[in-house]
This record gives sequence, C-alpha cells and structure tokens, in this order.
Amino acid sequence: MSTDALAIINTRRSTRKFTTDPVVDADIRDLLEAAMNAPSAVNEQAWQFVVLSGKALEDYLKINSNTPKGALVAILVCQDLAAEKAKGYSVQDCAAATQNILLAAHAKGLGAVWTTVFPVNVDAVRRLLGVPDTVVPFSCVPLGRPAGPAARTGSRFDESKVHRQAWGGR
Ligand SMILES: Cc1cc2nc3c(=O)[nH]c(=O)nc-3n(C[C@H](O)[C@H](O)[C@H](O)COP(=O)(O)O)c2cc1C
Repeated sequence: MSTDALAIINTRRSTRKFTTDPVVDADIRDLLEAAMNAPSAVNEQAWQFVVLSGKALEDYLKINSNTPKGALVAILVCQDLAAEKAKGYSVQDCAAATQNILLAAHAKGLGAVWTTVFPVNVDAVRRLLGVPDTVVPFSCVPLGRPAGPAARTGSRFDESKVHRQAWGGR
C-alpha cells in the first residue's frame, strides 16, 4: 500500500460541518464505485445505495437527530438480504462499503461521517424511502466540503490492544 493510502486511512476523521459547495455527481459516482469495490462475503456484494438530497435528505434528518445538519447530499448504504449468499453476512459487507465511502471521500478532499441507521432507525427509514422488506437500511453518510479542519488528527495506535500469539501475549 502506498504511503498516500496509509495517510488517507490514518488521517480520516468525521466531518460534521459542511460548506454550501455542491458535491458534483462525478464525485458521488467515485464514492459509489469505492463502496462497491469493498470486500464482501463470498463476493456477494449484498448492498444497495440510495443517494439523498433536497427534501428526501431533509426528511431523513428528522429521523436521526444525531445526524449532522448542513450536508447537501448523503449516501444511504443498505443491506440487500435477497442478494446474500452467506446468510447474515451483508451487515459486514455494508460496514466495509461504508468505510470505503469515508476513505474515498477523504481522499477527494470531501468530509463525511458514518451515521447510524441500523439497528435503531431501520423501520422509519424503510417507511420514508419506500425501501422493501428484503432491504435493510444500514448506514447513512452525509457528505460535503468540510467547513474547517478536522478536530482530531493524532494517531490512535495503542500497543496495549495488540496481543501476540495468544491473548495477553506481548
Ligand atoms: C456504527 C457507527 C455509527 C455512528 N453513528 C453516528 C451518528 O449517528 N452520528 C454521528 O454524528 N456520528 C456517528 N458515528 C461516527 C462516530 O461518532 C465517529 O466515527 C467516532 O466518534 C470516531 O471519530 P472519527 O470518525 O472522527 O475518527 C458513527 C460511527 C459508527 C462506526
């Protein structure tokens, strides 16, 4: 892995304040491509994505009060249960896809934050967006140009959380 990629991974931080600059469709496409290049169980790619803006995003923000306001666009990542080949694994596929969106956004100079949908807001989001029962809304990633620098950028590496050969091995 290039040092550039490591720098992107290690300096990514949540963005919760955005400028009013638009995020262009080409950027959204790049983020969706990054999401769909995530690893998935038996390569099942059991995900679907809903791009939210305008009224749909406004309505979504009413459901999860913990979602930062001010982003002009967001990507909702959904588990596609009908596409699962390994039962129960799409939750992990979607976590990997969500992380790829965050990293790709950071690489492009965009800010983003993973916000909770699964498990607490699944039904409300299904109702709001007409998502079928075979699809589980998993996470929502608001995106935009960051309005200011990230709050914390120090490394979180912690040797005490690393075990070698067996639990407690140093
Ligand atoms: C599963 C999950 C759910 C999260 N839900 C929210 C959320 O609803 N609202 C929010 O502002 N941040 C949410 N976050 C972002 C975390 O608060 C954030 O990643 C954490 O504080 C570490 O900060 P960092 O992203 O800047 O490294 C969530 C992150 C994860 C992984």
